[in-house]
Amino acid sequence: MNDNNLKIIQVSDLHFLKDGETMYGANPVNRFRAFINDVNKNQRNADLVVITGDIAHNGIKESYQLFKEELERLDLPSVIMIGNHDNREVVKAELSSVTKIDDDGFIQSSIEIKNHKLIFCDTVWDNENINNIHEGYYCLKRFNWLEKEILSFKSNSNIIFMHHNPMNVFMKSMDNYSFNDKDQEIIAKFLDKYSSKIKYLFFGHGHRPLSGKWKNVPYASLRGLLHARELDFDSDVENFKMEEPSYGIIFVNENNLTFHIHDFMNKGKIYEGDENYLGFPNID
Ligand SMILES: [Fe+2]
Ligand SMILES: [Fe+2]
Repeated sequence: MNDNNLKIIQVSDLHFLKDGETMYGANPVNRFRAFINDVNKNQRNADLVVITGDIAHNGIKESYQLFKEELERLDLPSVIMIGNHDNREVVKAELSSVTKIDDDGFIQSSIEIKNHKLIFCDTVWDNENINNIHEGYYCLKRFNWLEKEILSFKSNSNIIFMHHNPMNVFMKSMDNYSFNDKDQEIIAKFLDKYSSKIKYLFFGHGHRPLSGKWKNVPYASLRGLLHARELDFDSDVENFKMEEPSYGIIFVNENNLTFHIHDFMNKGKIYEGDENYLGFPNID
């Protein structure tokens, strides 16, 4: 942007498959292409695009190669993060040119832009069964890295991104795949300690738009780009469904942070005073 407002695009949970494959009837390559087309056309003044994990559904090489080809069409700088469906080592091998790695080998990084620091955390388990563990995890090495990142920034405007929701959100099927209770407590303590230096926390993973506040840290999330989660608070089952594909637009300045969610593929007509306006396209 030309002024001092920081503008970040967040998109999450792309779940790339193999070429031509679909999930719930939708093609992740086409969906990501539609996202890039829209951002290139309508959000050209954004500072950064942040992809908050679950890039590939099965963590396989072919999916990351497809993703890389599409990402090259994006006109804006981007940061990619991993989620529980990704494979850290395959990401490092296939996306080495666009992946930033910390000293301990985790896909974590930070950027300072316009007096704000954006911190990108890797919350994926670090063992061989990576694709079988869907909960989040943050080890001591990563906490040490995050602490240094926060403390080394002179301003208090640290904005943190991660794939997993580290807190429960009153929705059983999401809470089952958050962090386990013990690890939630550890993160809660950390956030409590540094809440005055953390402006906001954004995550993906749940495929639901929501916002809240935990340990004095405000947080928000959004639907997956490919699929969403049904609004069912009591079910243990991961009941995914198709809803409007969306991305987030975060504006930040010294005094304000606002998060817009844009259902960018909605074809609803703008009213513009038309007496014959027929209302919402999919209702009645
Ligand atoms: Fe996901
Ligand atoms: Fe996830």
